[in-house]
Amino acid sequence: MGSLRAPSRRAGSMPRSAIREIMALAATIPDVIHLEVGEPDAATPLPIIDHAFAAVRGGATKYAPNAGLKRLRELVAKRCAARWDKPVGADRVVITTGAIGGLFSSMFAVLDPGDEVLVPDPGWPNYEAIAHLASAKAVRYQMPAKHGFLPDVAELRSLITDRTKAILINTPGNPTGAVFPRALMEAIVELVRENGLYLISDEIYEDIVFDGSHVSAAEFGADDHVFIVSGFSKSYAMTGWRLGWLICPPALAATAASLQEPTTSCASTPSQMAGEGALICDQKVVLDFRKTFQRRRDIVVNAFAGTSYLPIVPAGAFYALVDISAAGANSFDTAKAALLEAAVAVVPGSTFGPASDRYIRIAYTIDDERLAEGVRRLRAFLDARSNAKVKEAART
Ligand SMILES: Cc1ncc(COP(=O)(O)O)c(C=O)c1O
Repeated sequence: MGSLRAPSRRAGSMPRSAIREIMALAATIPDVIHLEVGEPDAATPLPIIDHAFAAVRGGATKYAPNAGLKRLRELVAKRCAARWDKPVGADRVVITTGAIGGLFSSMFAVLDPGDEVLVPDPGWPNYEAIAHLASAKAVRYQMPAKHGFLPDVAELRSLITDRTKAILINTPGNPTGAVFPRALMEAIVELVRENGLYLISDEIYEDIVFDGSHVSAAEFGADDHVFIVSGFSKSYAMTGWRLGWLICPPALAATAASLQEPTTSCASTPSQMAGEGALICDQKVVLDFRKTFQRRRDIVVNAFAGTSYLPIVPAGAFYALVDISAAGANSFDTAKAALLEAAVAVVPGSTFGPASDRYIRIAYTIDDERLAEGVRRLRAFLDARSNAKVKEAART
């Protein structure tokens, strides 16, 4: 018998986030308050469920085309056209398995092995993992707290090389809660246009904005350059349905759709019918979710008022980055200690990039009372650590 050959190095070396480790540990702690989970706590609104179930009973149980069901693509195109105030053809819409499916298809549509894609730090870790699977290089650009966790266009420009194919941006941002202002978005679109690059704009939190308004990268007329990734998960509390969409440059829509064939074939047909239900139901549900998150954002901001823990007031999504530098230790050890000593689960900032180790991320996706108790515990924990550090410094 021959010795077993080595499994995929690419799979084995895929970057993995520390979130799983914290979640596994959290499952062993009694009365833990979960501030680590990035998904809406509400159930999917009933009209959406009813629409999907009726469709399934009526036979919506078969494969759909790679790009998705025609009517759903049309509804998505209509929604985008209304928001962006310009015509959007349904032929540019690909229905995907979650927004993650749209990220995957857009990145694979433009990246060859050895290519570079600029990704944010702090940024969602899956961008880097997808680049890795495409044998491309994720090059980090900085979004420092002193710039409101926003990118600097001059820095983006300085990172562009002959190998750069795309810039990936995310607004409203996970984990920062930052929302890109219009002038910044326009400047980034101009930058990709000047340099012949693609822009992959992850706008999955587009409906969850409290201060100012969401500006889409699609609004500046660079359709040949811009992919918009969004979907149902966050706006309609539909994470488990795994349904999203991708708006493509016209020349790449067929490629993006074809990339679904060897991965998922198509998004689940029952889920696509739920998506149809979401887009035709009373959109008050979206507004209600946003109001809930805004109330919770305020609970978090008030709990940290008068401290240096919150570098910015999050303007959107449902996250806040908490600066732990006064409390010492790295983000993983701090997250672990918060769990063991204060029974609060948070995500270590190192998950979001090498420059983010001075932060932990909290998600305000639990009910108000538990949230208030969670941030109270967290503040007391951080205060105790900061005070101990000050005393220690005075002694030495
Ligand atoms: C920034 C960002 N993009 C994309 C996604 C993926 O969304 P979906 O669940 O629709 O795949 C998430 C989910 O947490 C996210 O935070």
